[in-house]
Amino acid sequence: MRSLTINTNNTTLQDALPNIGHACGHNLIAAASLAAALATSHVLSTITNHPGGSVVLFGTPGEEGTGGGKIRLLNAGAYSDHSVDITLISHPGILNNSPMVRTTAFTRLEVEYHGKPAHGANSPWLGINALDALVTAYNSVSMLRQQTMPSDTIGMSIIDGGGPATNVIHPYASGACTIRAATSARLSDLETKITDCFQAGALATGARLSIKQIPGYLDHVPNAILANSYRRYWTALPGELPEIKLPPPGTYTYVKASTDQGNLSHAMPSVNASFAIPPGPERGQPHSRDFEYASGRREAFEVALRVGKCLAGIGVDVLTRKGMLERAKREFGRRRVSSE
Ligand SMILES: *[C@@H]1O[C@H](CO)[C@@H](O)[C@H](O)[C@H]1NC(C)=O
Ligand SMILES: *[C@@H]1O[C@H](CO)[C@@H](O)[C@H](O)[C@H]1NC(C)=O
Repeated sequence: MRSLTINTNNTTLQDALPNIGHACGHNLIAAASLAAALATSHVLSTITNHPGGSVVLFGTPGEEGTGGGKIRLLNAGAYSDHSVDITLISHPGILNNSPMVRTTAFTRLEVEYHGKPAHGANSPWLGINALDALVTAYNSVSMLRQQTMPSDTIGMSIIDGGGPATNVIHPYASGACTIRAATSARLSDLETKITDCFQAGALATGARLSIKQIPGYLDHVPNAILANSYRRYWTALPGELPEIKLPPPGTYTYVKASTDQGNLSHAMPSVNASFAIPPGPERGQPHSRDFEYASGRREAFEVALRVGKCLAGIGVDVLTRKGMLERAKREFGRRRVSSE
C-alpha cells in the first residue's frame, strides 16, 4: 500500500522564534499541511476503487537552528513504520511561488584553541597565544571568502576571546563557523579549506586546536514529477492566479536557507513548496518582526490554503494515478545522483 506524509513544522506553540514569535511563518506551514492532509483523505474517501493508500500527518518540531526534528523522526523509524513513499511540506516567504525549491547544505564547526598563559609584559615568550591563533584563523577564513562561489556562505564568530585582560597571553579562545553550499560535495570541499584555515592558526602560534563538527542539514533536492502535479493544481484552482508566477517546469528555485527536510529529500521523493504571502509594510523577509506580522494576516492564511490544496493534489495523484509513484521514485534516484 502506498503511503505519504505531510510534514508540518508544528503547531502554534512550538517552533516559533525567541522574542519574535512566528516570524518564520511556521503557523502557515501548519495550516497548509493540516489542510492538505484532511483534503487528501477526504478526496480519497469519495473515490471508489482507488488502489488504496494512506496519508500520515507528522508534527515535526525543531527545524530552526540545528534541531533537526524531521531527521530524528526519520532515524527513529517514524517514516519506515508507516512505509512512507513520499514527503510533502511547504514554506512561506515573500519572493517565490515554487514547488522546485533547492536549499543549501550546511554544517557548523566549533573550534577551540588551547595555549599557555604568561605575563604579557615581563615574560611573554613563555606563553602560547590562543587568541592569536583564532585571529589568524579568522583572517584566513576572511581571505578565503574572496575565492568562494556565489552560492557559498561562510559566517564566523568569536565565542570566547579569552577575556578582557591586555597584559596576559591568552591561554584559551574559541569560535564557530557556519558553512553553507549548494551541494553536499561543495560543502565538504569548503569544510576542508576552512579546516586548513583553523590549522593555520594552530601552526602559526603553537596552540592546540580542537574542532567539533555539529551535524547540519543536507541540501533539499526537489522532485520534478511531484512538482509538476503541484503546478497543475496551482494553475487549475479557481480564482485569480497569484501575481508571482511559478518558474518554468523543471527550473530550480534556489533559496539560501537550510532545512531538515533536506535530509528527508535524500531519503525519499520530497516537495518543499515555497509560497509568497503579501508582505508587511517593510517587506520584511522571514525572521523579521515585519514578516511575523504578515504571516498572522488573513491574506496569508488564504494563500496557505491554496498551497494546502495543491499539496493535496499531489497526494491524490500519487495515491490514485497509475505509475506516478514509480515515476517519482525513478526521478528521485536520478536527481539525487546528479545533485551530488
Ligand atoms: C543530515 O545528513 C548528513 C549526511 O548524511 C549527516 O551528516 C547529518 O548529520 C544529518 N543531519 C542531522 C541533523 O542528523
Ligand atoms: C523549505 O524551503 C524554505 C525556503 O522556501 C526554507 O526556508 C525552509 O527551511 C524549507 N523547509 C522547511 C521544512 O520548512
